[in-house]
Amino acid sequence: MKKLQHLFDSNLKWANQRKQEDPEFFSQLSQQQAPEYLWIGCSDSRVPANQIVNLPPGEVFVHRNIANVVVHTDLNCLSVIQYSVDILKVKHIIVCGHYGCGGIKAAMERDDHGLIDNWLRHIKDVGRFNADQLKGLNDKERMDRLCELNVIEQVSNVCNSSIVQKAWNNGANLTVHGWIYGINNGIIKDLETSISSVEELKKRNHNSHALPEN
Ligand code: CO
Repeated sequence: MKKLQHLFDSNLKWANQRKQEDPEFFSQLSQQQAPEYLWIGCSDSRVPANQIVNLPPGEVFVHRNIANVVVHTDLNCLSVIQYSVDILKVKHIIVCGHYGCGGIKAAMERDDHGLIDNWLRHIKDVGRFNADQLKGLNDKERMDRLCELNVIEQVSNVCNSSIVQKAWNNGANLTVHGWIYGINNGIIKDLETSISSVEELKKRNHNSHALPEN
């Protein structure tokens, strides 16, 4: 018997159900993918991209890592952004964080978590950049706010990436969104931080951590 047999069984059941609903489903998908959305989300098992927006395979290109962080030197994430923008021509990049994020919580602690503390430094930086917004809040409020601020910061990082800047300069129809998901109620909230152009980015002062111009 195969290891993890129950997963193979459930896969077979799922594939058969799909074929029953639409006999062409897999043959069409195998020809090409043309998703309109790139989803950058947390690896948390409770925040599965396709399921929470109720979209079938083929509709969302997905990148997930701990605490949905977009780091300018992360070749993995940058490659996903570049491929989805330049080749797939997605129209929307969605950075979706979630309340109760374990990565954000760990970043707020002083404990030693091992290697991951290096990754979480990026979130500690978000806290440092926005210290004034976190002052005077209780623990729950601080955690919720840092989850939101982290999304806003990562939207800014996506917008300031050379890939998105180039796409906008070439006239691409591309919007970057910041959302947050409630694991306790299943509802997504738009943080109203969407940006569609270099001008909008400048206006929102999203690149406020950039070096000052002369
Ligand atoms: Co998380």
